Amino acid sequence: MAERIAAALGDIARSIEQVSHEVALKEGEVLGIVSPANWNELPVLVREFIQKTTFTLSGNNYVFTVATFGMIQGFVCEDARREFKKKGVTMDAGFSVLMPDNWTPIFDLSDPVKVQRTVDAAEPQIDDIIKMINRRVKGNRSHRRMPYFLRAITDRLLHYERQTRFFSVDESLCVGCGACARKCPVAAIEMQDKHPVWTKERCAICLGCLHRCPKFAIQYDGKTQNHGQYQHSKYWKRQ
Ligand SMILES: Cc1cc2nc3c(=O)[nH]c(=O)nc-3n(C[C@H](O)[C@H](O)[C@H](O)COP(=O)(O)O)c2cc1C
Ligand code: SF4
Ligand code: SF4
Repeated sequence: MAERIAAALGDIARSIEQVSHEVALKEGEVLGIVSPANWNELPVLVREFIQKTTFTLSGNNYVFTVATFGMIQGFVCEDARREFKKKGVTMDAGFSVLMPDNWTPIFDLSDPVKVQRTVDAAEPQIDDIIKMINRRVKGNRSHRRMPYFLRAITDRLLHYERQTRFFSVDESLCVGCGACARKCPVAAIEMQDKHPVWTKERCAICLGCLHRCPKFAIQYDGKTQNHGQYQHSKYWKRQ
């Protein structure tokens, strides 16, 4: 989604893992964050990225956030607005797009036809967002928000779900490729005897390890094995 929006704006999308913590915008330039909802919040890693980054604006800049979500995006745009504000940046607009819900301890993504239907339905929503960005529309236009006082509750749930003790690996399926450990954004996984071991008590709970494993050998809390794996098809091919 970030790539699609950036291309429409004549820009390039970058992962926050690859961007420096000095972001300087020239006169009139646009800055956007595209982020999933994690327990209705801006994910820990995205929040930390904004907190650690120095933003230098020049004038006539436009700053937005797009939340991708599967059920209720909640506070993602509001969280981003608040984090930007702490850095002296006014976030001009918030948007959201419904996508397949990759929280597979609950949601079932095992039917590729249904999943593709949701992905296809997102395309016109992204087109609308691009039009609004081009018109520099202001305000929080995101869907399915929640009252901010509930955030304390979702925060506790997120903290609970981040425990890596919930992960398990089926060693009969695991081929020891190490992709899970290599790509974990917080280095919470180590390869030991050719199998992954979670060495941190808590992680960023992106579920990237589970969804990217080429053998679907990683499960979470015994609740994910029948719910499939999901990555956007464009990204999957590049692995
Ligand atoms: C740990 C975790 C928590 C999630 N929490 C929510 C949520 O609270 N509300 C929601 O609508 N979607 C939630 N989702 C679903 C994702 O926000 C959604 O699938 C999003 O499109 C994923 O984007 P990505 O493919 O860029 O990772 C969650 C996903 C994960 C992995
Ligand atoms: S990505 Fe899957 S197959 Fe590869 S090491 Fe990790 S668990 Fe094993
Ligand atoms: S869910 Fe997996 S890849 Fe993501 S932070 Fe946790 S251990 Fe790392």
